[in-house]
Parts: sequence; C-alpha cells; structure tokens
Amino acid sequence: MNITSIDIKKLYIETYGCQMNVSDSEVVSAILQKENYQITDKPEEADLILINTCSIRDNAEIRVKGRLENLRIHKKNNKNLKIGVLGCMAERIKDKILEDDPSVDLVVGPDAYRDLPKLLEVVSGGTKGVNTILSLEETYADISPVRLDENNVSAFVSIMRGCNNLCAYCVVPYTRGRERSRDPETILREVKELIQQGYKEVTLLGQNVNSYLWKEDNTDFPDLLEKVAMLSPVLRVRYSTSHPKDLSDKLIQVMSKYDTICKNVHLPIQSGSNNVLERMKRKYTRESYLQKISAIRKAMPEVSVSTDIITGFCGETEDDHLDTLNLMKEVGYDFAFMFKYSERPGTFAAKKYADDIPEETKTRRLNEIIELQNQLSLESKQKDIGEVFEVLIEGRSKKSSEELFGRTSQNKVVVFPKMHFKTGDYVQVKITDCSSATLKGSAIL
Ligand code: 5AD
Ligand code: SF4
Repeated sequence: MNITSIDIKKLYIETYGCQMNVSDSEVVSAILQKENYQITDKPEEADLILINTCSIRDNAEIRVKGRLENLRIHKKNNKNLKIGVLGCMAERIKDKILEDDPSVDLVVGPDAYRDLPKLLEVVSGGTKGVNTILSLEETYADISPVRLDENNVSAFVSIMRGCNNLCAYCVVPYTRGRERSRDPETILREVKELIQQGYKEVTLLGQNVNSYLWKEDNTDFPDLLEKVAMLSPVLRVRYSTSHPKDLSDKLIQVMSKYDTICKNVHLPIQSGSNNVLERMKRKYTRESYLQKISAIRKAMPEVSVSTDIITGFCGETEDDHLDTLNLMKEVGYDFAFMFKYSERPGTFAAKKYADDIPEETKTRRLNEIIELQNQLSLESKQKDIGEVFEVLIEGRSKKSSEELFGRTSQNKVVVFPKMHFKTGDYVQVKITDCSSATLKGSAIL
C-alpha cells in the first residue's frame, strides 16, 4: 500500500471579511499542505475545518457564530474532525470562543499561523489548541500562498500587516497588531512566480498601503508599486487600501506613468463632516480629502474613485449626515461600500463616546446613502456608454453561459458575448448599455 496516501488529510477552509483574510487563508493552506493536507470544498469530507473570521462589525461575528453551529454537525459523522477558528475574531475573543462553543478545538490569531502544525498535534491528543500572540515581525514573507481562487487570472499579494492608525471606531489594530512591511525582494519574487504561472493581475494588499516602508533600503509604497509594474507589460497591478492622509504625489505620479497600474483609487472617506472625521481620529479634513481627489483626477482623468462610508457614528447630527451626502455628490463616487456604525469593544470610541444614534436613524441614513450611491454608480456607468475599454476576462457570466465577464482598469464589471474569447484574455469591449452595477458591451475584433 502507498504509505503517503494514508497520511493525506482533508482541509476545508472558509473565509470571512477582507481581502487580507483571503490572502491569509492562502498562507494557512500553504502551511498545511506541507503537513499533507489537501484542500476540499466539501466540509462533510474534511478532517479539519477552519473558519477564518472577521470582527469589523458585530454582524460579521454573529454570522460566524451561526456558521459554526451549522458546521458542528459534521462531528457526528466524523469523530476525528477538528474545527478551528482563525483570524480577527480568534484574536479578539481568544479562549472565550472555546467556552462559548465546545465543538471548537483550535483558536489561532492572524500572526500565529506558523504554529498550526504544532497546535494540530496538541489537538489530535484531545487537548484544545490556542495561540493568539501578536508579532512585531511576522509577515509570512517566505511562504508561497496556495491560490484558493481557481480562476488563475488575479491574485492577492500581501505587502504588509497590521495597522498603526487607531481610528476611533476600528478593531483592526487590536486584532492584527502593529504595522510591519514585508521585504520587497520576497514580494517581487512572489509576483514573478505568479507571472510565470500565467496570472494577469495582482492586488497588493495592506491595511494602509501608503505607509509601506522597507527601512533597509528606504523602499516606500510608490517605489514598490513601480518595481512591481516594471515586471511585466501584461500584468495589471491594483492595490488596496489607501489612507487619505498618506496618499502622496509620488504615488499619483507612479500610477500615471504605467498603463498597467489600474486607474482606480479606493480612498475611504468614512464621513463628509469635519466634526465626525475629527472624532473618528481620521487625521484629514473634508477639504484636504477633496484636494487629493482633484490632484488624482488632474493627473489621471480616466480614474475611477471608490470609497468606504460609515453612517451613524457617535454624535453624528443630521447636518453631519447631509455633509456626507453632499461630499458623495461632489466627488461623484463610482462605487462605495456603505456601513452602519457598529461599536467594537476595546476601541477608543467604545471607551470614550456613547453609541447614541438610534438604530432606526442609522438605518434611514444608510438607506439614503445607498440610494444616492446607486444613482451615482449609474451615472458613472452611463458615461461609459459608447466608449471602448480594455477588459481582462475573469470568467463566465453568472447569468448566461454565452457571456463572459471581466473588469476594466477602473474596476468596473463588464459583461459581453463570449465569441472565441476565454478567461485570462485581454479584450477591447465597446460599451452599449449598463445598470448601476454592470456595464454591457461587445468585443471589438
Ligand atoms: N462599524 C462600521 N463600519 C466599520 N468599518 C470599520 N470599522 C467599522 C465599525 N466599527 C468600515 C470602514 C472601513 C471598512 C473596511 O469597514 O468603512 O474602511
Ligand atoms: Fe475583518 Fe478588519 Fe480583520 Fe479584515 S482586518 S478580517 S476587515 S476585522
């Protein structure tokens, strides 16, 4: 009998939250592949189920708790099944997860994934395994992630970890620790490997990419972005996320210089009111933000701008809310992620301010914000009708097998008849129609 086949175990991993978590799940998969785990997409056949969790809002945590209740039934059929909680919730609640849910065997924070093999040994002996130690150095720089998204077109590359910003509402500095940058050589090596494997797009990830700095040779984020862009004329490069206070002219220059650096800037405003921004400790004003947007648009007229907005933050008045709506119109965002404020234990806001906006007011304000953004998104797409865009094809359209979908450099989704094209191709598409979410068109031959 083949001995190695006996040793193979199956890992099912489910990921919640941000792109950084997706990237972390790929690092975890790489670590466990070395321990003879094979990835499965069926929890019922797994020997190990891992849930990579998010704590950003209360409802993210509630979803995970519900999911854990569902997954626990697999233990009935497989007595050896182990269940682990990874990521931000593991870091935030730590061993309390084990008290609340006895079916959980393993709790591992974002900086402790290298310890997984050792923890799994502990767990196989019937003891619970916990490591939530945060690190000042860990960047998993030497680990080649196992790509879990099978489209083979676009990949996330983590360039830094943690966050030093301490925005008043945000749990991330507590769950992901201090900011640290990854050695640029290892980033470039990872991107080169992706190019060799045929990938066409990378997204450089960090909680605040603009503060990337490799101190040994003073490589800052624009330097890194340029080095990545120079690796290939057919590799699209995106990045996420920028903090408005740190986005530099140097970055704008580098973005303008390379066609392959995608012309989308995601710049979370959070609120259009200076009073709220100050209480949020965002360290910029509405005016300085708008100046950045003008500079970006002046250098790159074709750029799209997207944002994150929190409504109903502590003390937000009706005037503050109107400031947000006005700012949205003034910028004319192409896209936005919009949220109700959710108090997170341990944050500055939770300690110092009252979460005093009634739920129904938060809901009403959020609905107004969403309604406005739908209109702005539609206007942004209507402007594209009649224009031709280069689209990188990501796969088949969900609605029709006769259509493909891809994205423009501006990160807008385009659906078009497939003809002879295939995933990973670049194609010129003329836009003929749109909804607020998608562009429609046909390829130009
Ligand atoms: N409540 C609501 N939204 C939040 N975000 C971060 N913390 C909170 C919170 N406590 C939003 C911000 C951030 C995005 C990733 O999530 O808009 O940019
Ligand atoms: Fe969620 Fe933030 Fe953690 Fe990402 S970093 S998983 S968004 S809490």
